[in-house]
Amino acid sequence: MERFRDKLSKVGAGVEPSKTLAVTALAKRLQAEGRDIISLTAGEPDFRTPDVVAAAGIAAIREGATRYTAAAGEPALRETVARVYAERWGVPLAPAQVCVSAGAKPLLYYLIAILADPGDEVLFPVPFWVSYEAMVKMRGAVPVPVGTRREDDLKLSAAGLDAALTPRSKVLLLNNPTNPTGAVYTRDELAAIAEVARARDLVILSDEIYEDLVFNGHRHQSLYNLADWLPERTIVVSGVSKSFAMTGWRLGYAIGDAAVIEALASYQSQALSSPSQISQRAALAGLGDGWGAVAAMREAFERRLNYCLGRMPALGLPYIEPSGAFYIFFDTSPACVKRGWADGQEFCARLLEETGVALIPGDAFGMPGWARLSFAASDEDLARAFDRLEGFLA
Ligand SMILES: Cc1ncc(COP(=O)(O)O)c(C=O)c1O
Repeated sequence: MERFRDKLSKVGAGVEPSKTLAVTALAKRLQAEGRDIISLTAGEPDFRTPDVVAAAGIAAIREGATRYTAAAGEPALRETVARVYAERWGVPLAPAQVCVSAGAKPLLYYLIAILADPGDEVLFPVPFWVSYEAMVKMRGAVPVPVGTRREDDLKLSAAGLDAALTPRSKVLLLNNPTNPTGAVYTRDELAAIAEVARARDLVILSDEIYEDLVFNGHRHQSLYNLADWLPERTIVVSGVSKSFAMTGWRLGYAIGDAAVIEALASYQSQALSSPSQISQRAALAGLGDGWGAVAAMREAFERRLNYCLGRMPALGLPYIEPSGAFYIFFDTSPACVKRGWADGQEFCARLLEETGVALIPGDAFGMPGWARLSFAASDEDLARAFDRLEGFLA
């Protein structure tokens, strides 16, 4: 095995496993060893896939819908995605503007590959979702993490973006609602960022995977329909993973200009063939009849968020107040300074060791002093975890 290490390419040798998946796996292992672990690390809803969706998946298997499909997905699903988003955004959309894939994640990677040449810069705000930086590196393009400010809730500002641009800047990766902060961009904030993208001829990859999980009266604004010139430079990536509690089905989609979607489908035809036909049939059912379940899960998340927000002040640690997704991102440094701990990694390690509560250290998102708590967990686990956190910090 050791000898094979020399044979790895630069990409193979350099790529690190996803840090969020690593901590989740550690929490699971400790649990298997019999420790009383409360894991608030999840990047996925803790709900079961809605029955109507699961039933369609089972029916697909029984009917023998277990084959390859067209690379960009089955026509019925592409049509449905186009119809759902045309209604949602109030713009015309054709099925040829939709590519379905095995989750949002491969789409983001394929899109980076077909948009950025080696050496091109791909920008994204800090904190960022773990995989952005790795994907850009895997492509041989240059990741450019762009700093954000606390007073902007760690959201990208137009001025911050402008200051980070160079002649090699090609793609902006924007995640809204944001993992790990739960921040949701306002119309005005997006419009200002979009103007910079237009002035400097950037393509925008808008990762809107948490679009249906927005709380307490906030609204998600897509970049796609913000201005009539944005579809010329914006590709939206979303899917059913988070909205429909379908992470394991691996089903996402990209929506954008037909020429980009065609190139994306060709790339996908070589890299993946097609997403699972079973999952496509299940997603089709969800996008038709699953919206009641989506609304019920959103409400449950909102209730949990508000419970957590009620308990955050007692921890005495600064945090970003989330309006979307299912995470709370907080600054561990006051506790680290007081106790002489190095950073969020040590905070999380000690917390797990001493109390059995698992969180994701902020270095996974480019902010080592911070930590991410996921409230995709039962009410009971959240209550017990906050009790333990309070005890830990007392
Ligand atoms: C910001 C963000 N984008 C994309 C994804 C991936 O979604 P999918 O499971 O559909 O590949 C995730 C999952 O954690 C995410 O947090």
